[in-house]
Amino acid sequence: MSVQTEWWRTATIYQIYPKSFCDSGSKGTGDIQGIISKLGYLKLLGTDAIWLTPVYESPMVDNGYDISDYYAINPDFGTMADFDELLEKAHQNGIRIIMDIVVNHTSTAHKWFQSALGDKNSPYRDYYIWKDPVDGREPNNWASKFGGNAWELDEATNQYYLHLFAKEQADLNWENPQVREEVKHIIDFWAEKGVDGFRLDVINLISKQQDFTDDESGDGRRFYTDGPRVHEYLQEISEAVFQKYGSVTVGEMSSTTLEHCQQYSANDGKELSMVFNFHHLKVDYSNGEKWTKAPFDFIQLKQIFNKWQTGLNGKGWGALFWCNHDQPRVVSRLGDDQQYRVESAKMLAASVHMMQGTPYIYQGEEIGMTNPHYTDISQYRDVESTNMYDIMVNHDGVSKEDMLAILAQKSRDNSRTPMQWNTEEHAGFTQGQPWLEVARNYPEINAAHAVDDPDSVFYFYQKLIQLRKAIPVITSGEYIDLLPEHKQLFCYARRDEKQTLLCLNNYYSEEVEYSVPPTFSMEKAQCLLSNYDVAESGNTLSLRPYETRIYLIEEC
Ligand code: GLC
Repeated sequence: MSVQTEWWRTATIYQIYPKSFCDSGSKGTGDIQGIISKLGYLKLLGTDAIWLTPVYESPMVDNGYDISDYYAINPDFGTMADFDELLEKAHQNGIRIIMDIVVNHTSTAHKWFQSALGDKNSPYRDYYIWKDPVDGREPNNWASKFGGNAWELDEATNQYYLHLFAKEQADLNWENPQVREEVKHIIDFWAEKGVDGFRLDVINLISKQQDFTDDESGDGRRFYTDGPRVHEYLQEISEAVFQKYGSVTVGEMSSTTLEHCQQYSANDGKELSMVFNFHHLKVDYSNGEKWTKAPFDFIQLKQIFNKWQTGLNGKGWGALFWCNHDQPRVVSRLGDDQQYRVESAKMLAASVHMMQGTPYIYQGEEIGMTNPHYTDISQYRDVESTNMYDIMVNHDGVSKEDMLAILAQKSRDNSRTPMQWNTEEHAGFTQGQPWLEVARNYPEINAAHAVDDPDSVFYFYQKLIQLRKAIPVITSGEYIDLLPEHKQLFCYARRDEKQTLLCLNNYYSEEVEYSVPPTFSMEKAQCLLSNYDVAESGNTLSLRPYETRIYLIEEC
């Protein structure tokens, strides 16, 4: 298929975290029928596809990223009949479905692991990674991404198994060809049902260096990130299933490099359609450390976008995003979630949606939802947040107040609060008690208000989705950062032989003047979209607090 005709290059994908999206009853957790009831809303927005985070059977230690049966729907979310109905109704509405495939690890409740545990002769023992103790303790110093050492002892056999995430998420042994056959079988099952694509969870961690040595200078990630056989494995899966079904695929790449991503998402389609990388979301980490409270580095943010936009152009394809179920709300993070909430939500949206790639909108982002600003540890549910609280407060001596301030900025629960639908109790998310507290601002920030207000963040996103389909330079143009050193403005151009697009953004609350370089003939420019009324013309502009403007110049 030629590059221009692949549907996902001009598409916008909407991410649903089912547990927090819409409860069709009073359980307090969202479900598939709830999603079906909102398809009209997603269609109005202009969503091309839904990425559904895991709905498989799971003990929910990591909210579904710990799968115990890849072929069954978690009863909390509904039944396989509900899923089939969702697929059918989504398709009737012109919306594709992308499933989340979590195959770096399984839940320890999975029957493979249950058989492997305590039995070296189990046919499933070699599905996982087991090592003998070294000097009576863990085989090496690799750290779990959720805190503590990455190895857990199986007392019955006196061997440790590897878990890069929670101890209830055991890493699969991809060196074993049978594991790879199982993965193909799982994906085949869902593709055969008519699912249109797959998001592959932490897929660049599947190939581990096999000597499992200590990492003298780090936490072990350099021994398994973009590991030695990862491209070979992806090509094998892609050939066996993705290419057969023409599935769209997006790989979640943890701590990856541009060079690897060029290969993962190369135009030849041998591995994946596109990649998520997270470098731009580490600009508010202090010295690379997430669990700190830090302002964001604006210059670095622009440098990272520049590197990835120019580096993938013509070589690969990236996913564009600010938010997902693991990231705090962007309007609280990089914008102003009080006075300029609406302006900054729109500006942030425009500044990534006008780049090259496929944009992803995370539920609630399209109405400018904010972090909930929790103040007590009892309000948090996320395994990563509660683990880190325990480690940092009870072992590292961080004060409770400091840790709560860090969690309020960094916790994954910031984005997992229930979707704010309307002004009814619990924001109309459930008729019961929500599993996680709704943000208090729901009477003001909710989907019903947004749909009623032609000036809302919602309709701004709708417009961005439409622009991507109407204006080819958004998909194909080269990226030029116009002001890499400016401390307040993020202005870039997109350019091909026929069109130039300018995306001008003020990331702060002070008004600032900008003279567009004379090479861009502003008298020919058409302002396609802004979050303010725009009257001025010419090359000297004044950008108001969090203002964004998108201009198109047709070259004739
Ligand atoms: C990915 C998911 C995250 C999960 C982790 C382990 O990063 O997005 O939610 O905890 O993988 O599966």
